[in-house]
Amino acid sequence: MSRRIARRNLKKEKLEESVEEDEVERSVQFGAELKNDSIPFKSKYSQDPQKIIGLFEDAFKYILESPDLEQHIQSVKGDLFNRDYLAAFNNDDKRFAYASRWTPARALAYSSLFASLEPLRCMLSDSEASSKVLCVGGGAASELVGLGAVFCKLKQDYPATASNLHVDIVDIADWSTVVTNLTHNIKTKWLYDENKFNSKFMYRDILTMNATELDLANLDLVTLLFTTNELFCEKRTETIKFLQNLNTHCKKGGYLLIAESAGSYSNITIGNKKFPVQFLIDMVLIGKPGTDSGAWKIVQQSESCWYRVNQRELKYNMKLENMRFFFRLYQKK
Ligand SMILES: C[S@@+](CC[C@H](N)C(=O)[O-])C[C@H]1O[C@@H](n2cnc3c(N)ncnc32)[C@H](O)[C@@H]1O
Repeated sequence: MSRRIARRNLKKEKLEESVEEDEVERSVQFGAELKNDSIPFKSKYSQDPQKIIGLFEDAFKYILESPDLEQHIQSVKGDLFNRDYLAAFNNDDKRFAYASRWTPARALAYSSLFASLEPLRCMLSDSEASSKVLCVGGGAASELVGLGAVFCKLKQDYPATASNLHVDIVDIADWSTVVTNLTHNIKTKWLYDENKFNSKFMYRDILTMNATELDLANLDLVTLLFTTNELFCEKRTETIKFLQNLNTHCKKGGYLLIAESAGSYSNITIGNKKFPVQFLIDMVLIGKPGTDSGAWKIVQQSESCWYRVNQRELKYNMKLENMRFFFRLYQKK
């Protein structure tokens, strides 16, 4: 083994060790479950992963063939590294670069997550109902494609069902072209009746929107996937107010799904102490530990959940990363 490879392996081992230590530390402090759950690469309740990747290949054909794509990807990478999220998504070149490079792997993971969570699967397959979902920070459309993959597979398996799905997406960056493009592809490629699936994109700061604008009282599901941490970093007080709005206005029985990176990346500093973001979220949504006094209850959760891409089964000319995250599925009491 060359010295360079040995050094790289040592660095990787050290990094993995520090992630483990970080988790042990957190579980000691907060009594968190220490588990490495996983969700399947593919599910019978969702479109086949290669079909999901195929949707992106069709939708982004010209982007994927563009000689400028790599340059735009590098530019987004630089902004994300500096945690300058507004700069990362400030024009269509960068947004399409992100959506072709990172959204496909996330859409695969989210389709598996939605298919694995039985209450959400039941909601999407309810034969008579029409379901309404709000995806906060979902402009890059991973949630849209993930939801579409489960909904359309159920529709294909049970074509007589009358269900339909409406997805509202709110994002502070203008992802309207990406959302319109992928919604069109889902409707035309995966559905016999295009009217059964719809989306609406709102180019807004979620922290300035009220309950009526968000139609909170009529939502069956709100998703905050890899977005809550960003909101807390932007404006902590307003983020707590937004979560409190969900407490007050969401309907009984409705669901809320929150996911963020597992590990110290999702810590929030208050004063000179660091807290895992899920600790703060739980305080607002379910109340102080042991009191059960909040507006929501947790119906399913994982402190560390893996989605691993089976590279041998997929063809895409960009990297498709594995994902590791914590999640909570809450239901309104
Ligand atoms: C890390 S990305 C996550 C994207 C997507 N949810 C996923 O998991 O693939 C966070 C998203 O939240 C959006 N965002 C950040 N602050 C926001 C705000 N105040 N209101 C609405 N969207 C916001 C960003 O523009 C970005 O699209």
